[in-house]
Amino acid sequence: MLKIAVMVSGGGTNLQAIIDAISSRKLSGVSIECVISNKPDAYALKRAEDNGITGICISPKDYPDKNAYGRFLADFLKERETDLVVLAGFLVVLPENFINEFEGKIINIHPSLIPSFCGDGFYGLKVHEAALARGVKVTGATVHYVDAGTDTGPIILQKAVYVEEGDTPETLQKRVMEQAEWIILPQAIRMIAERKNR
Ligand code: GRF
Repeated sequence: MLKIAVMVSGGGTNLQAIIDAISSRKLSGVSIECVISNKPDAYALKRAEDNGITGICISPKDYPDKNAYGRFLADFLKERETDLVVLAGFLVVLPENFINEFEGKIINIHPSLIPSFCGDGFYGLKVHEAALARGVKVTGATVHYVDAGTDTGPIILQKAVYVEEGDTPETLQKRVMEQAEWIILPQAIRMIAERKNR
């Protein structure tokens, strides 16, 4: 069994895609041990609760510094024997001590085809605004391992999505989620689970 922790900040539609893939058995040998949000009111925590998954708010604001936050997160996840940390719309930059301790065990979903529209400041709608401003005809999503940089870790999966005439950042964001993110995130977890459960 691959024990995963999903870290979120917002609505949690990617979390939902993972939950749905597990319940429809498209994703097997995986259990969501906990959902961690940095915001107490994130809708993703409600999704966790509705599905009988432990949900908890662990915010950097409650720790004296980044190091203490990273230490707490690492201890919390180690106690739960977490094999994989999935960042699914987690808007906090993870402390270096945490990343070092979980090296090779953290993945992130990013709503563009890396290396386009990624790095510092590219999150949420800003990514899609930038893609439209540049006039790209194809965008997409990327699942990658997390290293000390921002969106610089090894790429696991990517899926392309066409930009359509008249797209707004909102319509493009929705299409990228539906046609790419919600598909490749469970797929990447499945690949990692198959490797571990073999
Ligand atoms: C997604 O677009 C994801 O790629 C990005 O943040 C958004 C999270 O959406 N990292 P949701 O909370 O999963 O609905």
